[in-house]
Amino acid sequence: MRFISDINEMRRFSKDANKLGKSIAFVPTMGFLHEGHASLLKKGRELGDTLVMSIFVNPIQFGPKEDFASYPRDLKRDLALAEANGVDVVFSPVPDEMYPEGFQTYVDVENLSKYLCGLSRPGHFRGVATAVAKLFHIVKPDTAIFGEKDYQQLAVIKRMVRDLNMDIDIVGMPIVREADGLAMSSRNGYLSREERRAALCLYHALMKAGDVFGKGVKDAGVILKEARSVIEAEPLARIDYVRVCNTDTMEDLDRITDRAFLALAVTIGKTRLIDNTVLSNAMQGRPLWSPAAGGDKPPPLHNLVYNMVSIQNFGLK
Ligand code: PAJ
Repeated sequence: MRFISDINEMRRFSKDANKLGKSIAFVPTMGFLHEGHASLLKKGRELGDTLVMSIFVNPIQFGPKEDFASYPRDLKRDLALAEANGVDVVFSPVPDEMYPEGFQTYVDVENLSKYLCGLSRPGHFRGVATAVAKLFHIVKPDTAIFGEKDYQQLAVIKRMVRDLNMDIDIVGMPIVREADGLAMSSRNGYLSREERRAALCLYHALMKAGDVFGKGVKDAGVILKEARSVIEAEPLARIDYVRVCNTDTMEDLDRITDRAFLALAVTIGKTRLIDNTVLSNAMQGRPLWSPAAGGDKPPPLHNLVYNMVSIQNFGLK
């Protein structure tokens, strides 16, 4: 496995791979890897001859009051995990080379960035799209893999690739969860024991909404009320947003006719967590979680309509 931090060296590597007719699969990350990232790497290993992963904590996607400085970093551990997951090249540029003095060109995916996390984190998606566009130009991948955990981010990247005619296939992968349902995130490490327990309310709210929807409720207001009530019952949780949206445009929906995207952002203590699920008519009559199906606790997600990726081969012992 090679480690490259120099932008020109990365470009040369990709040019050479292209010349040799080798396809490149690319997984952009901010490091502090977990099984969610590993699932993307496994997919990348399947899709490309060469697998490149970037580790870059991108300063321009963090707001002034956000956690850029304290974002968890552990390069040594990340490199071991990358190697265990078959990565050929880890690309880790430094911020000064990515954004040298005088930098002033940004990618703004206007409408999609207006909703959900775009409202609470102004400039966030502009920072994401700009960094990812730059990484795409440097790495020159044929395929890039992103997680549905950041569903809006995935939609923004797909739109950018279409709008700017980038010749890259964007592949989305399902959310990987802890055994109790909490969506994996590099930020979960911020949670105290008590907060970690409280953080489950996000997953429980999704389950509750899925249950109500599965029983035939199509009114978004009713579904939202049920989801919100689960989070509001948790004293350590503060809702940023709970929304039912169109899966492509991210605009609010009043009624679910076919499918919808249910998105949550909740602050637990000082940690902002996001989670989501897609509600679709295919689930009709199959409640996600009912006392009959799962007792008073939700069954693990892999028994349900969600996908859970095996953590066995992650290389973490
Ligand atoms: P990061 O948060 O490190 O996530 C890197 C990729 O891993 C993203 O595509 C994200 O959706 C995916 N991911 C994170 N948690 C996941 C989970 N539990 N299940 C499945 N996939 C998961 O997202 C970013 O970095 C940055 O914004 C980036 C795209 C690298 C641009 O800076």
